[in-house]
Amino acid sequence: MPQLIDAFARKFYYLRLSVTDVCNFRCTYCLPDGYRPNGTTNKSFLSLDEIRRVTHAFAELGTEKVRLTGGEPSLRRDFCEIIAAVRSHASIHTLAVTTNGYRLERDIANWRDAGLTALNVSVDSLDARQFQLITGQDKFRQVMAGIDAAFAAGFSKVKVNTVLMRNVNDIHLDSFLAWIKTRPIQLRFIELMETGDGGDLFRTRHVSGETIRRRLEPMGWQLQPRGRSDGPALVFRHPDYRGEIGLIMPYAKDFCASCNRLRVSATGNLHLCLFGEDGIPLRDLLGEDAALESLKARISGGLRLKKQTHFLHQGNTGSTRNLSFIGG
Ligand code: 5AD
Ligand code: SF4
Repeated sequence: MPQLIDAFARKFYYLRLSVTDVCNFRCTYCLPDGYRPNGTTNKSFLSLDEIRRVTHAFAELGTEKVRLTGGEPSLRRDFCEIIAAVRSHASIHTLAVTTNGYRLERDIANWRDAGLTALNVSVDSLDARQFQLITGQDKFRQVMAGIDAAFAAGFSKVKVNTVLMRNVNDIHLDSFLAWIKTRPIQLRFIELMETGDGGDLFRTRHVSGETIRRRLEPMGWQLQPRGRSDGPALVFRHPDYRGEIGLIMPYAKDFCASCNRLRVSATGNLHLCLFGEDGIPLRDLLGEDAALESLKARISGGLRLKKQTHFLHQGNTGSTRNLSFIGG
């Protein structure tokens, strides 16, 4: 199987595919004013056939894992068909979704039947009122019921994303730990990242994941060795807990060295990094099956341009105004 390799010998077998920019939540760190279609980017999102073709090209280039992101991917009416289309390529054996969870309770069993194999749910607070303050939606109980539904539908583990914010949720570590004591949840604290629209929030709320690590280790939480297909999270376990804690620290030294992912936006641009560029257009090659070889050539050619690291330390967020269009 061919492999996508960049100039720094990093291998890419993981694709994050955004299927819509639209979101029905208004998370303070992402879309504080809610989703607003933007005049210049308000093109239609990739169709089911375009999604099948782009994932076919990645599958032939060695991609084993795909994550569907958004916006909120489950807002797509054809979401089950999208899942099935991606899984129609035999070498893509892992298909995950990152969701805000509002549709889980109703639909997770259907997604699983269609071929979904892994699930990440965003939960920034375990307090219903604070959850509403952060997301703009009074849906805490619905999301919790959705996570229960995922276990009932046969998922043996669920990952939860929590964006770490100073004096918002970092002060509630104990409640998060109590929550995962009996549940097979990997709770991942993600350091708040600066985006073009989020400078003020970043300055008041950013706190390093190291502060969590310094509280976990004295309690007996132990750092686990990293597996090949693991993302950038540092994972901690504790003998008394069924759940795990993950720390994702994009500002840590060497964070980018383990980068194993490429991104395709909902309008079909290949992004080599979450931050920093406008993307390489692929859509003109997604209209017919016959363009497969040209598409593969453009993807592998584009990868040669991938830079060694992001420029967040220099306060350069690139063209990334918020993460809704490319799914975090
Ligand atoms: N900083 C960190 N994570 C973010 N996400 C979105 N915006 C940001 C940001 N500014 C991530 C969160 C959320 C997922 C959909 O995207 O993890 O759960
Ligand atoms: Fe929507 Fe996710 Fe952005 Fe929240 S973080 S507004 S759920 S896209």
